[in-house]
Amino acid sequence: MDHGLARGLTNYGDRDFALYLRRSFARSMGYSSASLAKPIVGIADSGSGFNNCHRQLPELIESVKRGVLAAGGLPITFPTISLGEVFLDPTSMMYRNLMSMDVEEMVRAQPMDAVVLVGGCDKTVPAQLMGAASAGVPAIQLVAGPMMTGRWQNERLGACTDCRRFWARYRAGGISKDEIDGVESRLATTSGTCAVMGTASTMACVAETLGMTLPGTAAIPAVHADRLRAGEATGEAAVRLAESRITPDRVLTAEAIENALRVLLAIGGSTNAIIHLTAIAGRVGVPISLERLNTISDETPVLVDLKPSGDFYMEDFFNAGGLGAVLAELRPQLHLGCLTVTGETLGDRLDATPRYVDHAVIRPRSEPILPVGGLVALFGSLAPGGAILKRSAADARLFETEASALVFDSLEDLAARVDDPALPVTPESILVLKHAGPKGAPGMPEAGYLPIPQKLGRAGVKDMVRISDARMSGTAFGTIVLHVTPEAAVGGPLALARTGDRIRLSVKDRRLDLLVDEAVLAKRRATSTTARGPSRGYRRLYMDHVLQADHGCDFDFLRKEPVG
Ligand code: FES
Repeated sequence: MDHGLARGLTNYGDRDFALYLRRSFARSMGYSSASLAKPIVGIADSGSGFNNCHRQLPELIESVKRGVLAAGGLPITFPTISLGEVFLDPTSMMYRNLMSMDVEEMVRAQPMDAVVLVGGCDKTVPAQLMGAASAGVPAIQLVAGPMMTGRWQNERLGACTDCRRFWARYRAGGISKDEIDGVESRLATTSGTCAVMGTASTMACVAETLGMTLPGTAAIPAVHADRLRAGEATGEAAVRLAESRITPDRVLTAEAIENALRVLLAIGGSTNAIIHLTAIAGRVGVPISLERLNTISDETPVLVDLKPSGDFYMEDFFNAGGLGAVLAELRPQLHLGCLTVTGETLGDRLDATPRYVDHAVIRPRSEPILPVGGLVALFGSLAPGGAILKRSAADARLFETEASALVFDSLEDLAARVDDPALPVTPESILVLKHAGPKGAPGMPEAGYLPIPQKLGRAGVKDMVRISDARMSGTAFGTIVLHVTPEAAVGGPLALARTGDRIRLSVKDRRLDLLVDEAVLAKRRATSTTARGPSRGYRRLYMDHVLQADHGCDFDFLRKEPVG
């Protein structure tokens, strides 16, 4: 098999000429013949001035290069799309698949024997893993690492659970404009990804559990010197990976994906990770069913006391023993034979037991925070394809609720009416948002965390049942039912819900039902319309091919086994 510069030659109809020309142009960059003969390790750089979470990537990538060189390889960086969560319109989720295509095509098209995927912010790690899984080139992930916490007055702050907590206080009149301005400058004070067990940290833990990173690297803070040592070690490992030719499909097996699902539940991880893991699994032909999620959730305790479900932050998790300590606790429930990018199995890794665990942050299985997993899937007449509730970050008093719906037809309708003093809402109402799913908004924005209507917030209401086809930030808290499938914009039952309808949520029975007669629904169905997409460009591609949440919102043509 060809390696190094001879991989995937440019097609001039003359292979020898193509290699001669490539070597000649590579020499123009100052490489010696000796360097060009080494295994080439590509480094996918997702740094961008529009991505605060990746601010330290230049320094991190230098550490990777050191490792590659020390191990006898030639490191070559290349840029990819970067997805800075808060800098993208309408939502980063819209571009995750685009980034995955960029990664896949550039990894495959350019001559590299292995690739180091350097990312961190919410959608970047799943996009890189999806792309690498499809590209079929040996790949290892290196995450940016979480931010450190900051302080405002006497309160410890971490993006972004505390962003929402303070914003809710400001909306409810609990703090002033000057005070919220003060908080704003203290929420995110270092480079790195959000400081709680949000989507970025969850995906870092998922990547490590899958065996796609070096062990012990998910939780190292972005600014910690260990992060640079992890970069160097990842570079060295990438050279060995190039030689061993372990491709992602050998690591991303059904058993590894089930391990990741279990860890996601045990860490109280982000709801978004279900979508991303489903998409990654789809790239290697492994289905994830929400029924199986419920089975695993019922037998997996929540062990990690991190915000938004608990009290601590990612730097505490790192100091408490990190993901290795969680894996060690879950060991009897894990598939230990799974291969990792180091060539060792998960079992080999766990034989090196962590030396120290702070059980205040990472509980033993005998004393879990919750006896069951953090996420639960719901099914019923309102969500025939399923919906997700993060029960570890919700108010259990609302788990068995039957009440009248207050329906917002769109994000615009929500913004226009939610704070109207005349809004017909009570603390018992169930808030419903439609047309915020994969095609509806479009892009399935993190709008599922519907704000408590201002008049209720000011009266002290902290949580209500909220239901939508949207996603929610992994850093948010509340009794919030998400990812209702099929979404309203493709004619799902959610499209038929009206203000005043009765809805029943039963977490005990895993049900979400719209209590309206079928004859009434049939009349409403006859007058409903479905979403029409834009006529050109990426948004047209997106609207024509994006799948529902139960298929990870991937494009139908990118999965290993295409859908539709
Ligand atoms: Fe990048 Fe939260 S904004 S991880």
